[in-house]
Amino acid sequence: MNLVLSSWFSVLGSWFSVPGSWFSVLSSRFLVLGSWFLVLGSWFLEYHHTPVLLAEVVAGLLPRPGGRYIDGTVGGGGHAAAILEASSPNGRLLGIDCDPAALAAAAARLAPYGDRVTLVRGSFREIGQLAATSGFAQVEGVVLDLGVSSYQLDMPERGFSFQSHAPLDMRFDPDALVTAAHLVNDLPEQELADLIFRYGEERGSRRIARAIVEARQRKPLTTTDELAAIVSRALGGQRGRIHPATRTFQALRIAVNDELASLEAALPQIVNLLVPGGRMAIIAFHSLEDRIVKHTLRAEAQAGRLRIITRKPVEASVEEQRANPRSRSARLRVAERVL
Ligand SMILES: C[S@@+](CC[C@H](N)C(=O)[O-])C[C@H]1O[C@@H](n2cnc3c(N)ncnc32)[C@H](O)[C@@H]1O
Repeated sequence: MNLVLSSWFSVLGSWFSVPGSWFSVLSSRFLVLGSWFLVLGSWFLEYHHTPVLLAEVVAGLLPRPGGRYIDGTVGGGGHAAAILEASSPNGRLLGIDCDPAALAAAAARLAPYGDRVTLVRGSFREIGQLAATSGFAQVEGVVLDLGVSSYQLDMPERGFSFQSHAPLDMRFDPDALVTAAHLVNDLPEQELADLIFRYGEERGSRRIARAIVEARQRKPLTTTDELAAIVSRALGGQRGRIHPATRTFQALRIAVNDELASLEAALPQIVNLLVPGGRMAIIAFHSLEDRIVKHTLRAEAQAGRLRIITRKPVEASVEEQRANPRSRSARLRVAERVL
């Protein structure tokens, strides 16, 4: 939109560009306005994501000069940049993400840190192997900031948001084989209901699955708004503040990306990567994730491998929640490797 406005003003600007006349004054005004919109436009197209609990992650990991760190969900590099700052001048960081768009954004954001940064594409599900092959087999700290970034939510074509007309995709890794469209069109009704119940904690899962199956018998479902409308109708429309499709979309996203299994696989590998005294900081955004983190850290603590630093999960301050609504559901847990 801004880009369209920008080029429109620029065209107008050059059209009025008759030297020496008052037109040329007008022309330069339009050109200034044009470039202003161009800047605004590219700003909107850039990676937009405010890292949550930033100070708390740094306080939890205690980065120090010369330390080695891994950000397993590097996204736009917000947490990574803070860790690199705090471990200046020679701390090193490995950033992992399965989304090439996120990695490109991280590369741009972290360029000032030069060879202190290594970026690799992959899933944190294989964090042990990715770390070993990148020269980070033993580290002082690991962060995971789970879930979807604002940037991914804001890109309609990724299909994460029910607020836009977009393909039913929801893959973090655009090369992964299964999309949300596959699940809603191919799963038997019972499996669909179970998936929506288990990953969305949605009590109306049976009604939703029934409505989806009825709709797909007429024609396959292809777009996010189509699905959101079906879910909304099945649940009798919006009642509270939250859109009725929120839980169903969460469930599909978790299933498409096999998020819970990836987290369960990653946590013990992270413990293995830490040197004694090294720390892990995990930010979860819903109770299913947080439960896995809590139970794994507790089991590792009982086995004598970890010391839990955060007895209760750390939540965002009122100010942060006001400034960044996404932080409202964030829960940070920190633990330290013991031996
Ligand atoms: C909430 S964002 C992280 C934002 C980042 N902390 C920042 O400050 O910009 C989560 C990122 O994790 C990535 N992601 C999700 N699941 C992943 C997985 N299994 N392996 C690697 N990256 C993953 C997503 O692509 C997304 O870029």
